[in-house]
Amino acid sequence: MTDVTLLPGQILTYRVIGGVLDFYLFMGPSPENVVQQYLELIGRPVMPPYWALGFHLSKWDYGNLTVMRDVVESMRANDMPHDVQYADIDYMDEQKSFTVDPINYVGLGEFIDDVHAHGQRFIIILDHTIAKMETYEPYTRGHELDVFIKYNSDTNEELIGRMWPPGDNVFPDYMHESGINWWTEQCHQFHNTSLDFDALWVDMNEPSNMIDGSVNGCGEDRWNRPPYLPKLYKVFSGTLYEETLCMDSDHHGSTHYNVHSLYGHSHAKATHRALEKIFPDKRSFVLTRSNFPSTSRYAGHWLGDNKSQWVHMRWSVIGMIEFGLFGFPFIGADICGFIDDTTEEMCQRWMQLGAFYPFARNHNARDAIPQHPTVFSETMTNVSRDILLHRYTLIPFLYTLFYEANTQGSTVVRSLMHEFPSNVEALHVEEQFLWGPSLLITPVMREADVTVRGYFPDVRWYSYYSGEELPEYERGTWVTLSAPLDFIPVHVRGGYILPTQEPANTTVYSRRNPLGLIVALNDEQRAAGNLYWDDGESRDPVDNGAYSLLEFTVNQRRLSMSVIRDSYVPPDNLAFSLIKVFGLDSAPSSIEVDSVTLSADSYTFDADLKVLIIEDQTLAMLEDHIISWNN
Ligand code: NOJ
Repeated sequence: MTDVTLLPGQILTYRVIGGVLDFYLFMGPSPENVVQQYLELIGRPVMPPYWALGFHLSKWDYGNLTVMRDVVESMRANDMPHDVQYADIDYMDEQKSFTVDPINYVGLGEFIDDVHAHGQRFIIILDHTIAKMETYEPYTRGHELDVFIKYNSDTNEELIGRMWPPGDNVFPDYMHESGINWWTEQCHQFHNTSLDFDALWVDMNEPSNMIDGSVNGCGEDRWNRPPYLPKLYKVFSGTLYEETLCMDSDHHGSTHYNVHSLYGHSHAKATHRALEKIFPDKRSFVLTRSNFPSTSRYAGHWLGDNKSQWVHMRWSVIGMIEFGLFGFPFIGADICGFIDDTTEEMCQRWMQLGAFYPFARNHNARDAIPQHPTVFSETMTNVSRDILLHRYTLIPFLYTLFYEANTQGSTVVRSLMHEFPSNVEALHVEEQFLWGPSLLITPVMREADVTVRGYFPDVRWYSYYSGEELPEYERGTWVTLSAPLDFIPVHVRGGYILPTQEPANTTVYSRRNPLGLIVALNDEQRAAGNLYWDDGESRDPVDNGAYSLLEFTVNQRRLSMSVIRDSYVPPDNLAFSLIKVFGLDSAPSSIEVDSVTLSADSYTFDADLKVLIIEDQTLAMLEDHIISWNN
C-alpha cells in the first residue's frame, strides 16, 4: 500500500506500510530521453498492425446484428474510412465470454466474413470473469485445471463475485501458467469454432467486481483492513475491496493484496499469448482497460468510460499525452464520448480531434443515442470523411512514429512542453498536441467556438492543408486561428519531412496507393524525415529484419530520398507521386528529378504561399532519388 503525493516545491511524499522501494532516476537530459530511458527499463511498446491505425467503430448494445450491419453498411454507403468494427458484450449469450447470442446475433460469423471481404477487421470484447455454471465449458474446464482465485489460502473454495453474466462469477488467475494456458485454449477454440475475430479487447480487468469483495463479504484481517488506507479509499467506501476482490483472496502463490494492480497486466499479457497461438505469423493486437508499467509491450489502451462532454474532450488530450509518457503510444479516448448523449456539433469536433488520436475509435454506451459519423447530417458525414481521409493520408508518418516507439522508446503524441522543454510558455499548453516532433494539432474543444487559440513556438509553422506559413510576427506567440465547424487547424513544423499516401476507405487499399512527401523547410531551407515500411501485419518485423527504411533530407535545394534498408519489397510497385515543398524562399527556375529536367506542366509554384507542388511522378519506393530546384 503506497500513497504518493506531489507537493509544491518539487517534493514527492511516499507513505508506505511495508515493502521494499526501488528508485530509478532517468537523467534525460531531454523529456524524450527520459521516456526512452524509462522504456529501456520496463520494455518498449508493441508494434501495432498497420490496420490498427485506421478508424475503429464500436457501440455497446447495437441490440442485434441487423442494427450493427446497418451501421457498417451506412459507413460503406457514405464512403467513410472504416478499418475496424467492434462487438461489445451484447454479442454474447447472457454476456458470457466465449458465447454468441443465438437470437440477436445469429449470423455474426457470416457477417465477420463479409467485413473481411471488404478489407475490414473485426474485434470482439472478452471480460475477465467466468460465469460459474456446470453447463458452461469455460467454467468446467477452468475448474478442472484449477485456474480460479480462491477465497483465501486456507480453503480451496473459488471466490464468487458478480459481473455482467447473471449469477455467480469466478475470477481466473491470469498470472499462473495454468490460467494462461486455459485462457489461450478458450480464445483459440472460440476463434476456430465460432468467430473469426482479428484482435481482442479485454475489459473490466482492474479487476472489477459488481459487489464489494465477494458474495460472502471479506474477512476482518490485515489484508482487507490494513492499518492505513490511502485517501482515495477513505473518500469512497472506506474499504480496499470496494467493487473488487477481497484482498486476502488467493492467487496461485500470492495474496490478492500483493498483486491487485497486476491483474489487468496479466490479463493483457495472457491475451497477447493467446493471439500468438491463434495467429502465429501475424501481428494482432490487444486492447486493455487496466494496465501497469510495461503492459504496452503487449497491448494498447483507451482512456476508459468518458462522457459526451466538452470538458472530457479536453481531458482526453491530457490523458493521451500522459499515457505517452507512461510508454503507451497506442492510446485514445472514446470519440464523441461514451456515457450520455452527444450533440452533432460535439461529435463533429470530436471526430476532428479523434482523427489525430493514435487509437481512433468512436465508442458509445448502452443507453446513449447512436453517434457513428454517418448518423447525423450530411455536413457532419462529409466533415468526418474528410478528416479521416487526412488521417489515412498521414498513416505512413504515424506508422513510422510507432516504429520509433517500438525500437527506441520514442513518444508518438507529445506536448509542446515535451518538445520545447526550455520554452516557459509551452508549459501552459494543454489543449494542443504534436505527432512526433512535427505535426501540431490545435483542436476546437468548446461549444459554438469558431476560432481557437494556439501557441506556436518560435520556429516555422505551415498549414498542413495549404502550406501557408504562419506569419513571422506570430512565431513564439499565442495565435487566434480561424476554425469554422468544418475545420481543425493542423500545422507542420519547419525542418521536417512527413511521408504520406493517397488515402482510401481501409488501410488494405490505402497501402497500395501512391506515396507522397510533405517537405516543410526551416529557416535554413533544410528539412529531414524518414519512412518505415513493412507488410503491415507479420510478426516481429524488426527482429526478423523484414522491413524497409527510407531517409529524406533537404539541403542546398536538393531533396535526397535514400533507401537505408530494402528488406521488405512491397508487392504493388509502390512509388512516390506527389511532393509538396512548403516555405521555398524563391521561385524555382527549373526542377530536376533524377537529373531529368521537369516540364513546366508537371509542377506548380504558388508565389504567394511559397509552395511548390510536384505531381504525377513515379519514383520507385526502393530506389534512391534526387530532386533539385534552382533559382
Ligand atoms: C466498460 C467499458 O469501459 C466499456 O467500454 C464497455 O462498453 C462496457 N464495459 C461494456 O462492455
